[in-house]
Amino acid sequence: MCEYAFNELCRARPEWTGEEYAFLRERDMLAFHQSLPGYAPTPLLELPALAAKLGLAGIFVKDEAQRFGIQAFKALGASYAMYRYLKKQWADRFPEPFTPECFQDGKILEKLGTFTFCAATDGNHGRAVAWTARMLGQQAVIYMPADSAAARVENIRGEGAEVVLVAGTFDLCVERCAADAAKNGWQAISDTAYPGYREIPGWILLGYTSIFAELEGLLHGPMKTGVDTVILPAGVGGLAAAGAFFYSKRYGAKRPALVCIEPVSSDCFLESVRCGRGDPLPTRGEQTSIMAGLNCGVPSPLAWPFLRDAFPFFLAVGDHWAEQAMCRYYSPLKGDPRIVSGESGSSGLAALLALTTAPKLADARAKLPLGPGSRVLLINTEGATDPENFKKVTGLA
Ligand SMILES: Cc1ncc(COP(=O)(O)O)c(C=O)c1O
Repeated sequence: MCEYAFNELCRARPEWTGEEYAFLRERDMLAFHQSLPGYAPTPLLELPALAAKLGLAGIFVKDEAQRFGIQAFKALGASYAMYRYLKKQWADRFPEPFTPECFQDGKILEKLGTFTFCAATDGNHGRAVAWTARMLGQQAVIYMPADSAAARVENIRGEGAEVVLVAGTFDLCVERCAADAAKNGWQAISDTAYPGYREIPGWILLGYTSIFAELEGLLHGPMKTGVDTVILPAGVGGLAAAGAFFYSKRYGAKRPALVCIEPVSSDCFLESVRCGRGDPLPTRGEQTSIMAGLNCGVPSPLAWPFLRDAFPFFLAVGDHWAEQAMCRYYSPLKGDPRIVSGESGSSGLAALLALTTAPKLADARAKLPLGPGSRVLLINTEGATDPENFKKVTGLA
């Protein structure tokens, strides 16, 4: 199953200006990430055999499964947001500057006191918050839907965090987390914005831009993007918003075609583009996709304007496309590298397989840069974060 919409509100040269977008002026994200222990740019892999089979000039995959040993790109957002939060706390009380080195200095952090950070998650963002909190010697409380995969819950507990299982969707977890933070004096590190809460999701968005910044000199040049199409998944939209911002600012009207991919059962961005009048709408789906990281019912109000203004095309696919993509990554064509990719991680390739092979999408493909001369960038946003399902899908013994 696939559904799509071209976005009539997409602009040639989107810009996000005014005080609410002042945070976009920051420039220190990649330098901050480079200062963290264990930092290495994630690999950029090429799949020439698959590109030839699908009638494309090139397929490039930025493999975030290797990010900081926590199997997903989310560490970039949580760590940067928690750094900025502590930096702000510091600036309120001390005159000395708070640098990335201070972030890892136990004695300096001690002066700030202790914190409990909390977050709602389908797995990866919560793990990233717990991972960062552990690095800082602080507490974390993570809210997850009760039906989350056991391995994802255990990975978070493994970072020393308390996990609260909530009978309901990710969106309910966000509400519970915000309410408990207010009640207990904890600091919510939410990747989605809500009324009165935008600063931290803004920093998280900025943190994700390091993925694209790392491609400088590899794919991206000063005048040329090096790719024609970039496919980005959307849960609450933070990563896709980071891509929208990065490419619009860097290349303006010459940016690559940005394609948003969601599961059909959590298609809140597609729904907003198809039926909204510029405002975000909730999905009408059941939010039951195996692409757990994308099971979000409403766009983050912070992310929405970035996708609305910079993405020309929105696609939603059924789970079998994600399963097909996980298998294709894991059992590549001869000459292509093997990539371990989880359900949400494989969504970019799921979109590409659907766009290049599903008869229902032939018209859409024809209107996108997906022809014999096209180079496509995908992000494998996670590794096998649910090993049991990964084995089931890929047929691993
Ligand atoms: C593996 C993976 N990919 C993509 C996403 C989507 O990111 P965002 O929620 O910022 O849209 C998530 C979110 O948790 C995720 O875990």
